[in-house]
Amino acid sequence: MFITFEGIEGTGKSTQIALLKSRLEAQGRRVVVTCEPGGSRIGAELRRVLLSLENRDLTPQAELFLYLADRAQHVAQVVRPALAAGAVVLCDRFADSTVAYQGYGRGMDTGLLHQLNAVAVDGLWPGLTILLDLDPETGLARAVARNVSEGKTNAEGRFEAESLAFHGRVRQGFLDQAARCPERIRVVDATGTPEEIALRVGALVEGRLNA
Ligand code: TMP
Repeated sequence: MFITFEGIEGTGKSTQIALLKSRLEAQGRRVVVTCEPGGSRIGAELRRVLLSLENRDLTPQAELFLYLADRAQHVAQVVRPALAAGAVVLCDRFADSTVAYQGYGRGMDTGLLHQLNAVAVDGLWPGLTILLDLDPETGLARAVARNVSEGKTNAEGRFEAESLAFHGRVRQGFLDQAARCPERIRVVDATGTPEEIALRVGALVEGRLNA
């Protein structure tokens, strides 16, 4: 099964993915963890270009095509083979991030983005998407603290440097998509301790895996 995690910066996606991986592996399932951008070899190069503060002059259109290129490569080389081998694939961000960031954040046409996403994913949509929902003030404060502690302020700060209003629009973009696709996208309150959030996520995922 293909499960994606979405949300603005600092909602704890990678922590929740790690906790879910342990929980599923303890049940004897094979789990592959991956991410966008950067989940494939070529994608890792695209990620550096996309997120570096050196590239503030990247145009919104060029940015969009790099995310889509990363996705097409990732689906073909990583996600599809892992699913074919019987793994549960947990992916940090996927197509919904393009609609939220490039659509609601940057103001690009969301109908067009849905069509371009369809080309990139080539028919492979997640069976379940966990949307970790948090207000942007809290999320950004967490993300900036994490980047400073990991020493990656300059390497990966391009989105953290966007305004609070930008992240508010992105959050709304995710919530609107969840309202459009209530079966696939489940909204999880991302306040509380990681363990509390993991209980909410685990219940949703097991409900789906055992259905
Ligand atoms: P992250 O891997 O640390 O979450 O960072 C990836 C950044 O890229 C994040 O700020 C969201 C952004 N992004 C987009 O703008 N569009 C996309 O399609 C994806 C996958 C990510």
